[in-house]
Amino acid sequence: MNRGRFIALEGGEGTGKSTQSRLLAEALQACGLDVVLTREPGGTPGAEAIRQLLLDPPGMGWGARAEALLFAAARSDHVEKLICPALERGAWVVCDRFVDSSRAYQGGAGGVGDEAVRALHAVGSDGLRPDLTVLVDVDPALVAARLAERDGDTSDAIGGRGAEYHAAVGTAFRRFAEGDPRGFAVVDGGGSIEEVQARIFAAVAPLLEGTA
Ligand code: TMP
Repeated sequence: MNRGRFIALEGGEGTGKSTQSRLLAEALQACGLDVVLTREPGGTPGAEAIRQLLLDPPGMGWGARAEALLFAAARSDHVEKLICPALERGAWVVCDRFVDSSRAYQGGAGGVGDEAVRALHAVGSDGLRPDLTVLVDVDPALVAARLAERDGDTSDAIGGRGAEYHAAVGTAFRRFAEGDPRGFAVVDGGGSIEEVQARIFAAVAPLLEGTA
């Protein structure tokens, strides 16, 4: 049995990643593949429990380093119990966010640093990288309008951080993609859901070669 492929969708808030992850998983299933659709933080019971702690924190909330550790712990459980077993049995895994979210949010915007986040990932998840990371890139003004429509004033502890924090997240994602053009596909997230879906599928299609 060939190992499956691991695809992560990344981007800031309100880029439509969750919808696009679902549509990508459906399109790959339609190609006859066994597909596991999952998300971070989350994907296993333990990681979903940590998600709750992260997005609705008790007491005074988490400091940047504690937050980075919690994301790494959630990811470790997710990788060990869901992602690796799925890939080993030949399934394709589509994940709504993965380690580059920790690098951008905690490492970049949160100030923990890229080296520290990568070190946590090495310990927690053997440094697992997706076969392809699709960065859904959306104009910040469009994102602000989408978020106002989606969240009103109900955003979570991380999504609700200031514009400066989220601008730093966007800058970090673009920097990662520029530094690793083979590992990333940057997709324009503007336009209709169908247009974005077609761009993402075109970016993923080369991975399908040789799997038929
Ligand atoms: P979601 O809105 O895509 O479900 O993600 C939940 C929030 O968690 C979102 O604000 C991004 C944030 N996040 C991090 O800060 N670091 C991470 O490693 C991950 C996976 C998500």
